[in-house]
Amino acid sequence: MVIVTGGTGYIGSHTCVELINNGYDVVVLDNLSNSDESVLNSIEEITGKRPQFFKVDIDNAEQLALVFNKIGSQAESIIHFAAKKAVGESVNEPLLYYRNNLDSLMNILVEMERFQIPNLVFSSSCTVYGQPDVCPVTEATPRKEAESPYGNTKSMCEDIIRDTSRVQQLKAISLRYFNPIGAHESAKIGELPVGVPNNLVPFVTQTAAGIRKELTIFGDDYDTIDGTCVRDYIHVVDLAKAHLRALRKLEVETRQNSYDIFNIGTGKGSSVLEVVNAFKKATGISVNYKIGSRRNGDITAVYADTTKANTELNWKSELGLEEALRSSWNWERNYRKIRA
Ligand code: NAD
Ligand code: UD1
Repeated sequence: MVIVTGGTGYIGSHTCVELINNGYDVVVLDNLSNSDESVLNSIEEITGKRPQFFKVDIDNAEQLALVFNKIGSQAESIIHFAAKKAVGESVNEPLLYYRNNLDSLMNILVEMERFQIPNLVFSSSCTVYGQPDVCPVTEATPRKEAESPYGNTKSMCEDIIRDTSRVQQLKAISLRYFNPIGAHESAKIGELPVGVPNNLVPFVTQTAAGIRKELTIFGDDYDTIDGTCVRDYIHVVDLAKAHLRALRKLEVETRQNSYDIFNIGTGKGSSVLEVVNAFKKATGISVNYKIGSRRNGDITAVYADTTKANTELNWKSELGLEEALRSSWNWERNYRKIRA
């Protein structure tokens, strides 16, 4: 059995679908602070199976222990997605972020030791690289000081897992996600940002849906192909599949203490303008945009060298940018009941 924390969230729900479709028994833990319980209905509609669900604050050790008393002895693996992830909010409320993201991880590690659960996959982020000196970045590229408390929690969590895996019987993998976008092909699950989206693709789809007047592109004077920032946009379904490959690697790993890190991206950088153009190609919709000033904290360019994941996880991204954008649009339309 696999415990998926944050399993009703964006990436967690897509991973639950892949796990169930590959025969895993899945139990979801989430406090629904950034997701809705109805996601479980959607997972059931897609897979024919409803994961067992516990509503629990994972940062609360007592609450979590009660849940583990019920399920801990059946678990072989944990995929730990649950975290707060809003970069701007983390700058204003650092303690909220440190408490939630660090306590949650440490509570999970305590329960893993208590129930001798060997395998952990952790959601890290390319944010740990900051503005890299050279692109693409490999896992050996030095981490930089984080731009935000959120980013710092990811670096600190990586270190907590590394140090714990040295002394506890723990096999662990951190996956450093680049920019996840897209939605399941059924359009039954997808990303549901609260309020005005900060991230590019939800802003683009909401503009296409007429909810936002226009997209502001944050700066066109960067040293890139067309002056706009470059990112590595990875389809969430490809990303979900990477978790299965990571689990498989841990399941066959014979060392009792192991820790490894993998970049999960496409290996290809795309500029903001390229995303806007790809959206037009994929959907036929020209999104209104204007060029605005740079956004504080934005980095010029980051994209992944994925050789390590390709060779050691036997994983490779398969879906392209246009496919991902089409699926984001289908999800937005389905969610808002917009006709074609
Ligand atoms: P999400 O907000 O959609 O999902 C996270 C889930 O965790 C939510 O359902 C939320 O309710 C739950 N949660 C948060 N704190 C909790 C707590 N204390 N107890 C129980 N449940 C709690 O986010 P996502 O985009 O699916 O991200 C999943 C993970 O991937 C996070 O760790 C995030 O930091 C990381 N990540 C995300 C991105 C991205 O762009 N989406 C990029 C890199 C890394
Ligand atoms: C952001 C976070 C990062 C996090 C990642 C995934 C910041 C500074 N970084 O990354 O820590 O890991 O999300 O959740 O918030 N853009 C526009 N107009 C918009 C929105 C975005 O031009 O309205 C541009 C941005 O300047 C950037 C690109 O689109 O160049 C992607 O932005 P976004 O989706 O917010 O992701 P990141 O900034 O890469």
